[in-house]
Amino acid sequence: MAISPRNPFAQFFSFMCFLLPSLAEPTDKITSCLTLHNISNFTTYPNTENDSASYYKLLNFSIQNLRFAEPTVPKPIAIILPGSVEQLINTVFCSREVFLAIRVRCGGHSYEGTSSVAADGAPFVIIDMMNLNRVSVDLETETAWVEGGATLGETYHAIAKASRVHGFPAGSCPTVGAGGHIAGGGFGLLSRKYGLAADNVVDALLVDANGRLLDRQGMGEDVFWAIRGGEAKTIGTTGISATFKGFYLGPRSSALSILDHAFPDLGIIKEDCKEMSWIESIVFFSGLSNGSSVSDLRNRIAVEIARDWGEKYFLNNYDRLVKAKTIIDPSNVFSNQQGIPPVSCLSQPNSTAES
Ligand SMILES: *[C@@H]1O[C@H](CO)[C@@H](O)[C@H](O)[C@H]1NC(C)=O
Ligand SMILES: *[C@@H]1O[C@H](CO)[C@@H](O)[C@H](O)[C@H]1NC(C)=O
Ligand SMILES: *[C@@H]1O[C@H](CO)[C@@H](O)[C@H](O)[C@H]1NC(C)=O
Ligand SMILES: *[C@@H]1O[C@H](CO)[C@@H](O)[C@H](O)[C@H]1NC(C)=O
Ligand SMILES: *[C@@H]1O[C@H](CO)[C@@H](O)[C@H](O)[C@H]1NC(C)=O
Ligand SMILES: *[C@@H]1O[C@H](CO)[C@@H](O)[C@H](O)[C@H]1NC(C)=O
Repeated sequence: MAISPRNPFAQFFSFMCFLLPSLAEPTDKITSCLTLHNISNFTTYPNTENDSASYYKLLNFSIQNLRFAEPTVPKPIAIILPGSVEQLINTVFCSREVFLAIRVRCGGHSYEGTSSVAADGAPFVIIDMMNLNRVSVDLETETAWVEGGATLGETYHAIAKASRVHGFPAGSCPTVGAGGHIAGGGFGLLSRKYGLAADNVVDALLVDANGRLLDRQGMGEDVFWAIRGGEAKTIGTTGISATFKGFYLGPRSSALSILDHAFPDLGIIKEDCKEMSWIESIVFFSGLSNGSSVSDLRNRIAVEIARDWGEKYFLNNYDRLVKAKTIIDPSNVFSNQQGIPPVSCLSQPNSTAES
């Protein structure tokens, strides 16, 4: 999608899966289909002890909720890393061809496991988007195209490299994947002034269940609306703490005079406040250690921050979301535990729809 300093974009891809009969050798079938389509960066479920190290290393790599890394949790038949949109389309094609459910993983921060496991027990693959992580910034139009597999850290880094005065309002954890984050809304430090990340999306590319690549015009306004927050999963925080970090958009002197007026008891002094650029504030709030630099934001391993999470329900947007889902994915190829079902699944409770 197109994102400007206020408008990031990400390449979207809705979430899905389906239930299928178990096949004799889905591993062989998906391997030959992918190979036929010139896709080589994938790892299949290990047959031998020897193969298992690389498979589990890749699988564990970005599972943020370690409950889903446990040995008793179903494992994917394959983990596939498409390197281009064409490979992504062919990966979706092959997965459907072999009747495998699909889990899409951007940063792996779905704490309900929607990016790492098919909860209904269907055989599945993980499409890991980490190689679709390009970010191109266009200062002329003040927009950027962000592929869905880019992390927030990679996105911020690219924007900061292009400009000292542009930013983008999204979350503060740099290893969160832009695709899932923006599709779920995307709340962050700049949100009170600039809104959610999803509010700043001006265009998006989406691969549908039939392998079509659709932009905003192609998908239509209802679907475009639904992918910007419709798959609502927001990251929240819980807990009680006696210390806090504050964030003020403006010079230190104004912040101090407001604090002095509103909270004189705190006795905040000049030294308690640091004046910094937008990108420096991103590094500050990222949880990276002191002395980290802007380029550390791209490091997917350095930052492992446990986050509490909150859930939001669809409220009165539900019907509109079902309508949009029915337009773009009537047979519910892209589904997950808390996904929106299309009308066809609602009316056939014994079909493949998950809850
Ligand atoms: C397959 O991939 C290789 C290396 O990425 C490339 O050189 C070749 O042209 C591709 N072939 C097809 C048929 O796409
Ligand atoms: C697959 O992609 C990963 C992540 O970018 C990379 O580290 C790895 O070298 C790639 N493997 C192959 C076989 O291309
Ligand atoms: C497993 O790897 C070890 C060391 O690389 C090798 O000696 C052994 O033959 C391998 N076993 C199998 C079954 O491939
Ligand atoms: C993956 O994570 C699981 C659970 O934490 C652990 O049991 C397993 O050893 C890990 N595998 C690798 C290769 O890190
Ligand atoms: C990191 O910064 C905090 C707050 O500025 C400071 O209290 C702490 O001593 C610093 N730690 C290191 C290792 O520099
Ligand atoms: C749907 O499932 C229910 C409960 O499993 C069963 O009683 C019912 O007969 C099924 N209906 C159809 C049309 O298969």
